[in-house]
Amino acid sequence: MTEIRDLRDDELGFLHEMLYAALDWRPDVELPPAEWVLEHPQVVVFHADWGRPGDTALVAELAGEKVGLVWYRLFTEESHGEGFVDELTPELAIAVVDGFRGRGIGEELLNAAHERARRDGIARLSLSVDAENPARRLYARLGYADYEPEDGLGRMILVLR
Ligand SMILES: CC(C)(COP(=O)(O)OP(=O)(O)OC[C@H]1O[C@@H](n2cnc3c(N)ncnc32)[C@H](O)[C@@H]1OP(=O)(O)O)[C@@H](O)C(=O)NCCC(=O)NCCS
Repeated sequence: MTEIRDLRDDELGFLHEMLYAALDWRPDVELPPAEWVLEHPQVVVFHADWGRPGDTALVAELAGEKVGLVWYRLFTEESHGEGFVDELTPELAIAVVDGFRGRGIGEELLNAAHERARRDGIARLSLSVDAENPARRLYARLGYADYEPEDGLGRMILVLR
């Protein structure tokens, strides 16, 4: 059975690994090495200085092995990722370890993140997903709606309350 718990401060390496996995979703495209990608200005915002107020990361564990991560954080008008909509709406990212995908772990992680965000009084969550990424179907199934789709940023929004 999958156990979902908070990521510990000493497990930031797993956040880096899962951030790279979240970007590396296209089977036909090879990304540059992780060290390079993770320092890219558009990527670094998703992990730099992790532990700021509001930063939330939930890990899925299966038989003691970390198999997936969902995380969200708040951004500012000055510094944000592609999924940014406003300073009160955290942007979420998710990845499940290759080999454990397609068996419901991503959905469990998302539901846990939504529950946590609701508990913390968050009204909406946003994310950015490529139009061709099959993950879009999962997000839509869980209630995410396209946000200004004509701008090509692939943003989706979930209203929590
Ligand atoms: C997207 C992801 C987190 C979903 O987690 P998961 O455990 O595979 O998802 P679940 O089993 O709960 O749900 C299956 C749904 O996930 C999506 N999915 C995306 N990539 C998938 C993959 N490689 N295998 C299976 N499902 C995938 C589909 O929407 C699928 O729904 P469908 O059966 O209607 O096609 C995971 O597949 C993953 O890490 N993919 C690569 C990284 C990525 O794309 N991250 C999101 C960036 S926005």
